[in-house]
Amino acid sequence: MNARSLLKPMLALLICAAITPQGHAQPAQTDAANVRERIPMDAGWHFALGNAADQHQDFDFATIPFFFAKAGYGDGPASFKFDDRTWRVVNLPHDWAVELPFDRRGDGNHGSKAIGRNFPENSVGWYRKSFTIPGEDLGRRVGIDFDGVYRDSQVWVNGFYLGTEPSGYNGFHYDMTDYLNYGGTNVIVVRANATLEEGWFYEGAGIYRHVWLTKTGPLHVAHDGAFVTAAVADPTAAHPEAQVTAQVTVRNDADASARFTIGEEIEDAAGRFVAQSIAFDAGVSAASNGDYSATIPVHDARLWSLEDPYLYKLITTIKSGEKVVDRYETTFGIRTIRFDADHGFFLNGKRVEIKGTDDHQDHAGVGVAVPDTLNVFRVERLKAMGSNAIRTSHNPPTPELLDACDRLGMLVLDENRAMGVTPEDYGQFKRLILRDRNHPSVILWSIGNEEWSLEWTAFGERITRDMQAYGKRLDPTRPFTVALSGSGAGNSLSTDVLGFNYYVQHHIDEMHARFPLKPIVGTEESSSEHTRGIYADDLPHQHLVAYDFEAGGHHVSVEDSWRYYLARPFAAGLFYWTGFDYRGETTPFEWPAISSQFGMLDTCGFFKDNAYLLQSWWTDKPMVHLLPHWNWPGMEGKPIDVRVYSNADAIELFLNGRSLGRKAMPRTSHLEWKVAYEPGALAARGYNAAGREVASDTVETAGPAAAIELIPSAARIAADGESLSVVTVRINDAAGRMVPEAGNLVSFSLTGPGRIIGIGNGDPASHEPDKYIETVRTVPVAEWRTRSIDPRADGPETAPGFDDSSWEKARDPRWDERRIDPPASVFRGEFTLPADSRDAAITLVLRSVGETQSIYLNGHALGLNLPRDPVGYTYALDRGLLQPGRNVVTIFATRFTNKADQLFRWDGPGPAAVQVVTPAPQWTRSAFNGLAQVIVQSTPQAGAIRLTAASPGLAPAEIEIASQ
Ligand code: GAL
Repeated sequence: MNARSLLKPMLALLICAAITPQGHAQPAQTDAANVRERIPMDAGWHFALGNAADQHQDFDFATIPFFFAKAGYGDGPASFKFDDRTWRVVNLPHDWAVELPFDRRGDGNHGSKAIGRNFPENSVGWYRKSFTIPGEDLGRRVGIDFDGVYRDSQVWVNGFYLGTEPSGYNGFHYDMTDYLNYGGTNVIVVRANATLEEGWFYEGAGIYRHVWLTKTGPLHVAHDGAFVTAAVADPTAAHPEAQVTAQVTVRNDADASARFTIGEEIEDAAGRFVAQSIAFDAGVSAASNGDYSATIPVHDARLWSLEDPYLYKLITTIKSGEKVVDRYETTFGIRTIRFDADHGFFLNGKRVEIKGTDDHQDHAGVGVAVPDTLNVFRVERLKAMGSNAIRTSHNPPTPELLDACDRLGMLVLDENRAMGVTPEDYGQFKRLILRDRNHPSVILWSIGNEEWSLEWTAFGERITRDMQAYGKRLDPTRPFTVALSGSGAGNSLSTDVLGFNYYVQHHIDEMHARFPLKPIVGTEESSSEHTRGIYADDLPHQHLVAYDFEAGGHHVSVEDSWRYYLARPFAAGLFYWTGFDYRGETTPFEWPAISSQFGMLDTCGFFKDNAYLLQSWWTDKPMVHLLPHWNWPGMEGKPIDVRVYSNADAIELFLNGRSLGRKAMPRTSHLEWKVAYEPGALAARGYNAAGREVASDTVETAGPAAAIELIPSAARIAADGESLSVVTVRINDAAGRMVPEAGNLVSFSLTGPGRIIGIGNGDPASHEPDKYIETVRTVPVAEWRTRSIDPRADGPETAPGFDDSSWEKARDPRWDERRIDPPASVFRGEFTLPADSRDAAITLVLRSVGETQSIYLNGHALGLNLPRDPVGYTYALDRGLLQPGRNVVTIFATRFTNKADQLFRWDGPGPAAVQVVTPAPQWTRSAFNGLAQVIVQSTPQAGAIRLTAASPGLAPAEIEIASQ
């Protein structure tokens, strides 16, 4: 594929020699007014559930005339004027589905949360965020980037509709430049509708990835506009020579053509200068893109590999005259990849067996709102198992997962969501490729997965071929595959690499013989179900034995899958279905099961026995894993099926000090013993070929549960409001041994600058909440009546019992703008608090209804003669001011001097509303087979976070996490 064919008015730069650090150009003057900024927009969104079936409950959205017909007529929450002060404030990433209860009417494939078609009241989420744009930004380009919103999102800024994004997985960008209030407040509004599904697994709901505000000058590097590739002549050389090519699209949004200088510079991981291109003069016409390319030699390149995931940075600088108008950074790695039809996959010229897992993106406690640090934790868990690859089944991942894979050394099979060749399909596919093509971790694109109406059909073959050709124009450096559920004709034949889901569904040897030039990879394998810590099926509790027994259907044991691929070195390796358990797809169970059990790790990331089985084949550090646990009361003298997973050469088993024999450890299998049970200690010792003990594992009969132990993944975290420590909760006996079947209910409290953001235990049938959050409700002040009065600030109308039945009803908000107000009015509205709000914090929020106003609640003055205030008034109400049943708000107001202000009055919940905040219940969770997990996140304040755990009859535990 010729890279140049996709570069329109491409101007190839002269290749320039790398120059020494002394030759490094002096930093040019920066045009501060135009320099690029990328500002996180994660904090402080106001959130409330709307309604997918009832417009009134959807905050009267789409009810005013012309709401979609005229620009800027966004109504309900989409209006700039809407008052969201009573809504809950959330930070991103946020998944509202995980906050909902489990319900049998929910979709089992999606984790049985109370969301979807049967729950219109839970399926629409509104997000609103105010932000200011300084006056100096006028003339710059200002945009907003959403990394992913689940799903069918619509976005408005200042009441202007920006667009709809159906995909719940692709990032999207809107240019807001022309719609903003410069030097003032702006409101961005998102309505997400999670009624429909995209996948057959838990997908979450809401703005579950980051949002960014982007600012550039009119002349700037286009969105995702840099593509860095590297050619390495001999990647196995001691000092590899690389040619790094930077292809950059420059966007000129000005209405005049621009001349500029473009230069590229490469920095190493420590920020040191490595090489640069000769800066080059260029031009681009008004409102156009220009594509530019430079090739830069890098001597003695440090290649990106799994062992040394070394990253460079390309810095593109655009100068107008002597001023830098844009500086754009692209992180990249220098490495070569090759899929070979006879020998599998090669990284930097060396064969690498793909030891992969397929993974969805949810985690215990947080659903799909996975903080960046938790993505790092998850990649580290998979690496600890020895895995070297992730397939982002079945959708584009969050960008920070790829950053983690780049940094930690993990290969990625990056998957597209929907297959098709329509503008919508191509738009999504293109955004995926442009966004991800600089990540060295990404080695292969997947166009789709098990598309049953395409796999065996001629049009399926056409669609796949066309998509692949389209993708190759965007990234000619990586091959494409599609994950197939059956081989034969159709799109099986179209892709560069043949991807097979489950060898039992394919004739892989035959396919290899028929298509000798096609590389092969196992895109899914095994799909066997196991529950952590379970050693006999317990169907009533929906728990399945964790021994790696043979399974049925396309479910094959972990061991058979590995041996199958190991015996076929022509294939590149395999991806196990799955690394982590995920919510939904509860095979073979139905309700009340809520999560899958395919994982090598559970939803918390605790290893199941199969993770150790893989570790025994996939890692070199000596290890021994012994199963099951050794608590079998009532089984004395009866045989227990004992297995050992190890990478040692021989294993000797000891029961209470007595040898039960030494066996050679098979390389790609496990060892089995039948051991007559007696309480005590069962130990497996691993020896190397020379007979030296290199590793061991012991299971001991534990006594009754006596104490809680808390083990943080990190004892020190950054005080950035993002970082976290994943805390393991362990139930131990008096001697500190984990009690293998303990299910004690533990409660947690936290003090200091941190918060618990989620909790779990890996039990695939547990209906305990994932989160304990405060409940925030809005009670509108309603039944507004009004009459004209002589201007005053007090009177008998403030008495709750005052008879206002003869007054005029306050008008329909939509027509209020036609009203001509009398010089002064009195308004009365009422509200009744919900019965369960006794412990709640109650706040009354009001807007200005006139130029001046005096506000009363049940006859008590809250504020007198208050001047008009565009923000409004907020009163935290003392309990003593409130009464059971009807509460009355009275406002005396004088007419607005500017009639336009009147428009603000009745919008949203009306001129007043009450916020009812019920505090979060205490966080609790039962242990499952001895373990639970609490995820603790920092706040932006530094200090000591103290987590305590207590359970009746157990010694409590406390840990301190330093947040700095
Ligand atoms: C595959 C499918 C996966 C998952 C798996 C469960 O066919 O591609 O998404 O559903 O089956 O066994």
